[in-house]
Amino acid sequence: MPPGVTDGGIAVVIDVLRASTTMITALARGASRVIPVADVGEARRIAATTPGPVVLGGERGGVRIPGFDLGNSPREYSADRMAGRTLVITTTNGTAALHASRGAREILVGAMVNRTAAADLARRLAGGADRVHLVCAGTDGRVSAEDVLAAGAILDAAVVDGPDEELDDAARRALDWYRRVATSDDTSARMIAEFRRSPGGSNLIALGMEADLEVAAAIDSSQVVPRLDLTSGSLRRALVPAGDSG
Ligand code: MLT
Repeated sequence: MPPGVTDGGIAVVIDVLRASTTMITALARGASRVIPVADVGEARRIAATTPGPVVLGGERGGVRIPGFDLGNSPREYSADRMAGRTLVITTTNGTAALHASRGAREILVGAMVNRTAAADLARRLAGGADRVHLVCAGTDGRVSAEDVLAAGAILDAAVVDGPDEELDDAARRALDWYRRVATSDDTSARMIAEFRRSPGGSNLIALGMEADLEVAAAIDSSQVVPRLDLTSGSLRRALVPAGDSG
């Protein structure tokens, strides 16, 4: 992403496989906050100096970093591990995309699992005036298909009540793709199939973590939207009441 693109706008950062899905899960399971960190050494330092109960999580190459408590599978982030704890997390692309979005006025985390809640909150924060940027974290600087599909899912929820004339070409293509997938006979199976052939999905299959695809494909299974407190650098949960699109 070129520097400064999100400046002053609303950024919804998407790394559906798996950083954004995992952060949403951690907050949904009771983590008090999530501190996303771009660098492994910095994550260790922050975890060691943060008061209160802390869990250190993250991956490099898709696997748990040596000495860390947890990796980056949402399945690891259970209520008994998360309740009342601060999660310090670093991932290859997801936390880097969050840091690259720093100039935005508001930074949210989106995925399939919270796509309607994320769309509602982004619309509300934008107030019809500010741009909303769907930041696809991608893989090693390249856009990843799985993030584009999740961006399409968020757009599908965001434009449900209004015109979509202001979408740029990439957004329109993402929306069209998601809608093709969502109107198939078995949306869930088709979503998982799309994930399986995506760059992030095939990495996870090779690592034996295919079960994460099903978790990440569970559309609207969560109302939790991580929202960055720009002062502290922590993500906290923003709950969107059902049916309230602001
Ligand atoms: C990332 O941030 O690059 C991903 O979340 C990698 C992963 O799936 O572990």
